[in-house]
Parts: sequence; structure tokens; C-alpha cells
Amino acid sequence: MTKPAVRVAVTGAAGQICYSLLFRIANGDLYGKDQPVILQLLDLPQAQAAVGGVVMELEDCAFPNLAGVVVTDDPKVAFRDIDAAFLVGARPRSKGMERADLLLANAEIFKVQGGALNEVAKRDVKVLVVGNPANTNAYITRKCAPDLPASNITAMLRLDHNRALSQLAAKAGVSSADIEKMAVWGNHSPTMYADYRFATVKGTPLPDLINDEAWYRDVLIPKVGKRGAAVIEARGLSSAASAANAAIDHMHDWIHGTNGGWVSMGVPSDGSYGIPEEIVYGMPVVCANGAYEVVAGLPVDDFSRTMMDKTLKELLDERDGVKAIVG
Ligand code: NAD
Ligand code: LMR
Repeated sequence: MTKPAVRVAVTGAAGQICYSLLFRIANGDLYGKDQPVILQLLDLPQAQAAVGGVVMELEDCAFPNLAGVVVTDDPKVAFRDIDAAFLVGARPRSKGMERADLLLANAEIFKVQGGALNEVAKRDVKVLVVGNPANTNAYITRKCAPDLPASNITAMLRLDHNRALSQLAAKAGVSSADIEKMAVWGNHSPTMYADYRFATVKGTPLPDLINDEAWYRDVLIPKVGKRGAAVIEARGLSSAASAANAAIDHMHDWIHGTNGGWVSMGVPSDGSYGIPEEIVYGMPVVCANGAYEVVAGLPVDDFSRTMMDKTLKELLDERDGVKAIVG
């Protein structure tokens, strides 16, 4: 018997991340090949024709489990009865725009979308914010959706996590699949802190395998932090396929669990690790039964405290920058 369809909203549907993401979801990479999915696509009025073209291509793939597609410029239509939301659409920085202006322009978008989620989404909807500044956009969404569980509104740190895994695996000469207990803390920005202190490969501590703390601090951490800018420099466009892949990884693991393994998610802080409540901060989590739990009780040494406070300071500044909009 066919299962009832799940509804997945995706915003920014005409954009470049969605040009990968939508096809991955429709192909069954998120919920599995036996789960029908209805895509509910949101983009701006001027992008509706382009979304129509993407929908033609989705049709032309004849995905067996794509049970329907809704296209709209109205968040309340896009978010009605949804099980999951990928909030990808955001205002890019235009010429002469200051960072503060960008924050405010996006705050307006995520205020509206948070309100719409609050009104029409399923009460247990899982929300992943990808559009930058992702952590603060998730913070705004959460503030504007007070009737939804705060923990269900998350931001994407998974691309940073995957970037770190890949670089560390290459340095250690191992497969990225063999690295366990990696963590990325903080903001999805160059201040994020990729923390390999607890990482192991088949039981051996990864720092022992690499045995080069200077490389870790002076090369790995800044390289992961600046990877997004390096991709933009090389491609002339920001990362898209890898961002879509990370978005699938994040939501897939949240839905299906991690079998005890750690992944990094931007989550509203519960006050642990000295991070003020509500700040959406990258943390190591374990997922099971459709929920995630922050890995508790990890020691924080002086270097880590400095790194974690630096990225926190940036998030506190961003929060202050949007006070006029979310209060
Ligand atoms: P893009 O410019 O190709 O597409 C953005 C799409 O969003 C466009 O179709 C635009 O019309 C739409 N949009 C703008 N405002 C909207 C609104 N209010 N409602 C619905 N749709 C709206 O951008 P992209 O390359 O797909 O990237 C999207 C976002 O993801 C950017 O903010 C980018 O910086 C961010 N990003 C985040 C990560 C991460 O790891 N968190 C990684 C890569 C990119
Ligand atoms: C990335 O990490 O690739 C992006 O967030 C970069 C960007 O500014 O879009």
C-alpha cells in the first residue's frame, strides 16, 4: 500500500542551490524511495516563470515518488501542512549594501516566513535555514514562530562540518566515513570553530593520527572558515551542489537518526557551553527518533573557549542588529 505523501516546502526554488536540492528530494534522497513527496515551492513573483521551468524539468525526470508540486509566491500557501521546510531563499548582498543592511533585509523576509510557518505548518515541522546569515535568520524565524517547538528551527552548519571532514580525512590519509565525533561550533561564517579534539578514526584519536597541531590551528580552521569565499572566488557564484548536499545530510539525519554518530547542527541554545539561550549556534548533536540532542558535558579548553566566544560575539552582534525587527 502506498504511504501518505509528506509535504516539503522549499524557498528560493528558482535559485542555484535548489537546482540541485529539489531533484535530490524528488529522487528519494531525503525520505527514501518508498515515500511519496509533495514539493511546495516558494519564490518571489518575478521568479515564478523560472520556477515553472524547474518544475518542467522535475516532471521530465519522471520521479516515481514525486506526488505533486505546488508553486507559489505566498508563504502561507507554501508552508500549509508541511512536514519539513528548507528556507533557502534569501536576499543576496547587492553593490554598496552594508552587512547591517543585508541583515535587516533578510530579517524582514524571515519574520514573514516565521509568521507563516507559525500559522499554517504542521506543529512538528522540521525547519532548516540555509539562506545567509543562516544562524541569525533561524533565530528570527524561531522568534516569529512562537507556537512551534523552538528546537525544530535549525540552521545549516553541515556544509562546514563536511568541509572539515574532507580536509581532515585527506590530511590523515583516511576515509571521511571513518571519522567520528567531529564538531563545528558557532556561526556559519569564517568565525566558525571546527573542533577535532574528540574525533577518532576506528578508535584512534584523530589528533594523534594527524600529529600536527599547528596545521590544525593555522591551516585547517581558517581554510574551512573561508571555504565559501574560496568557492565564490573560483566559481563566480557561491557553493550550490555542496550546499544542497549538506542540506539533504542535515535533514536526512534529523529524520532518520545518526546511529549514535555526531553531526553538527545550528540549534537554539539551551544555555549549555556558556551560549546564551535562544542564540542559534553550531553544536555537535546526535539524532534519534526524529529529534536531536546536543552532545553534553564536553570539556572546553582555553583555545576552544576563545574560539567559541569569538563566533558567539559575532552572533550576539547580529542579534543586536535585528532587534528593531524582532524585538
Ligand atoms: P540564488 O541567488 O541563486 O537564489 C536565491 C533564490 O531565492 C532566488 O530565486 C530568489 O528569487 C529567491 N528569494 C529571494 N527572496 C526570497 C523570498 N523572500 N522568498 C522566497 N524566495 C526568495 O542563491 P543560492 O545560491 O541558491 O543561495 C541561497 C542562499 O543560501 C544564499 O543566502 C546563500 O548565501 C546561502 N548559502 C548558505 C550556505 C550555508 O552553508 N548555510 C551555503 C551556501 C549558500
Ligand atoms: C558558503 O559557505 O559556501 C556560503 O555560505 C558562502 C556565501 O556567502 O554564500
